[in-house]
Amino acid sequence: MTIAEERAQAVGGPQHGLTAEAYRSKEFWERECQTVLAKNWVFIGFAHQMANPGDAHPVTCANLPLLAVRGRDGDIQVFHNVCLHRCMTLVDKPKNVGKLIRCPYHAWAYDLDGRLRAAPHFAGTGKQEFDGFDIKKHRLKPVRTHVWHDWIFVNLDGNAPDFEEYAAPLISRLEGMDFTRVEPIGLLDFGEIGTNWKLIMENFIEPYHVQFVHASTTDQPLENHYTITDGTCIGSAVDLNEELGTSGSLGVSSRYLTLYPNFILGRYFPDQLGVYLNVPIGPGKMRQYRALYTTEGQELSAEEIQALRNLWWDVHKEDHEMVVRMFEGRKSPVAEDGGLLSPAWEDSVRAFQDLIERDVAGA
Ligand SMILES: [Fe+2]
Repeated sequence: MTIAEERAQAVGGPQHGLTAEAYRSKEFWERECQTVLAKNWVFIGFAHQMANPGDAHPVTCANLPLLAVRGRDGDIQVFHNVCLHRCMTLVDKPKNVGKLIRCPYHAWAYDLDGRLRAAPHFAGTGKQEFDGFDIKKHRLKPVRTHVWHDWIFVNLDGNAPDFEEYAAPLISRLEGMDFTRVEPIGLLDFGEIGTNWKLIMENFIEPYHVQFVHASTTDQPLENHYTITDGTCIGSAVDLNEELGTSGSLGVSSRYLTLYPNFILGRYFPDQLGVYLNVPIGPGKMRQYRALYTTEGQELSAEEIQALRNLWWDVHKEDHEMVVRMFEGRKSPVAEDGGLLSPAWEDSVRAFQDLIERDVAGA
């Protein structure tokens, strides 16, 4: 018996998924913002996109406007993207701000460490300070930030375990990977997708759909897959004997790993890595990006890189069609009990949903 068959035999019947309201209701989304997206380490951006001091990227997490900034010391810090004066958002598109983050409204200016450096004429013409207002005592509100290799994470409530401890189940599965050789070779921007972000996560962590949805883009028999459920690391994997390497299909051994709640890393042996940035925006709206990496320092031609971009674009589009329709299906009373989950292939989906339910219950 395979592991999957054993799992199926061991349970009385299929489990249900989350109820439809967990995907469609505004109230559930707001609870997620206060819990799932506040107490965990949430993935918000790629460090390689902000390579120089002064590079500033506005991002959103749990409905909040945030700003990631590369400082003069080379470190990335995330702040609330809000001026202390009239609470306007400071930066509205990615740019290099130079040495100061300047609010366009009344020209209050902050250095790259977030310290307030100028509040022009705040106390009258040519005067900034007065009794009770000392510029040095004010700074942009920082958000707990951790940059792990190329990936920027935030923990809004500041109470999550240290990142290395939080992500230990994922990190242990990447043992042997030489991260100094991991090089970004491209970034795909899929824009906004009309679905709930959890459906994208669930789609990634089950191997069941691959043979049907990706029949023309992949070549991975279902029987070789197995699911992974290990705390914050949930996903699946496939081990194949024959490694095809950099090629036009996905007929290679792979690890499909997530870090709860929204980080996705696909490792394709022998030499490729893909990381998805999934940005939850509302109950029925998210954004998605995928960064492509080589892991062995190999040089790819422009044509090879374009072929990989095309392949992954097609694979993601195949998934997007499914998750948009799953969101639509959750309008129906049929979806009220959350449907049925395979004990063999979707125990990983249920493990993800258990974490969501655990966190939201703590609201
Ligand atoms: Fe898929």
